[in-house]
Amino acid sequence: MFHVKNNIVAGLALVVLFTASAAFAKSKHEASKETAASAPVSAPVKDGVELADDSAEAIKLRSGPGDPVAGKTKAELCTGCHGEEGISIEGLAPKLAGQYGKYIAKQLRNFQSGTRTHQIMSAIAATISDDDLADIAAYFASRPKMKGNGSDNKLGKELFLHGDMSRMMVACVNCHGVNGKGKSPVNSVFPVIGGQQKDYLRGQLINFRAGDRSNSPGGIMNIITQKLTDAELEGLADYISGL
Ligand code: HEC
Ligand code: HEC
Repeated sequence: MFHVKNNIVAGLALVVLFTASAAFAKSKHEASKETAASAPVSAPVKDGVELADDSAEAIKLRSGPGDPVAGKTKAELCTGCHGEEGISIEGLAPKLAGQYGKYIAKQLRNFQSGTRTHQIMSAIAATISDDDLADIAAYFASRPKMKGNGSDNKLGKELFLHGDMSRMMVACVNCHGVNGKGKSPVNSVFPVIGGQQKDYLRGQLINFRAGDRSNSPGGIMNIITQKLTDAELEGLADYISGL
């Protein structure tokens, strides 16, 4: 119990830190924009699309250290399930398009070491060398970012954007960013979840809640999902997959 409480405090401290720095960055940004009297500050995310997301610079930053060109050939092992462009068709296989290269690499290493387990992925990851892993990750990261078809699930939207402070439930947006597209091209700790497969999202949230997946830093996702009801979990999977 004490351990869990400590984690909650650590988690909240993390969030406050990120939110505060984001607010600071925003206010500085807004101030300079106002003097320049240019386009509205919220324009890049207004229509649910971050225009800068797939700019050459953003792609380069999020791809990580691997070589995406070499990675394309090596990724042939993976495209049967994850799609040629990182857009999977089967709902339980996650999309990898536009995901952070370093996050993809971390998951593969977690599958290799057994910190995350899945019958198929653990077996596949075991066969990949370190160099190939970085290149394949860079290839999928360099694809246009995954995107959903829209959903206005009210319950999911409310929790995603505002959390529920009466239950100390932190809003997902604080860590996963606007539209679940991640914090910034250089922050690979928080994965892209907006536009991800609904079945996969539901599965991961259930796994985190049950403790079957426990590879998030400080067990933060285990703590966050612990208080979610089935209906809330479903609402979140529905809303986030639509982003
Ligand atoms: C036979 C189908 C199949 C193949 C082939 C396959 N995967 Fe997967 N992959 C899956 C499934 C299913 C999951 C979901 C695992 C889970 O539920 O935990 C997954 C999960 C992942 C994840 C975790 C993504 C996330 O968002 O956390 C990564 C990364 C990944 N695969 C990379 C690869 C790479 C790289 C290859 C090729 C070397 C590959 N996969 C080949 C089916 C496959
Ligand atoms: C304090 C930060 C934080 C908050 C708040 C947070 N997450 Fe996460 N989440 C993470 C981190 C870090 C990971 C990456 C775990 C890893 O490295 O394996 C993650 C991973 C995930 C994943 C797995 C993604 C994948 O591709 O497998 C899902 C799904 C997810 N979060 C959903 C949510 C939802 C829904 C909420 C809100 C109810 C939420 N998160 C709130 C930090 C956070």
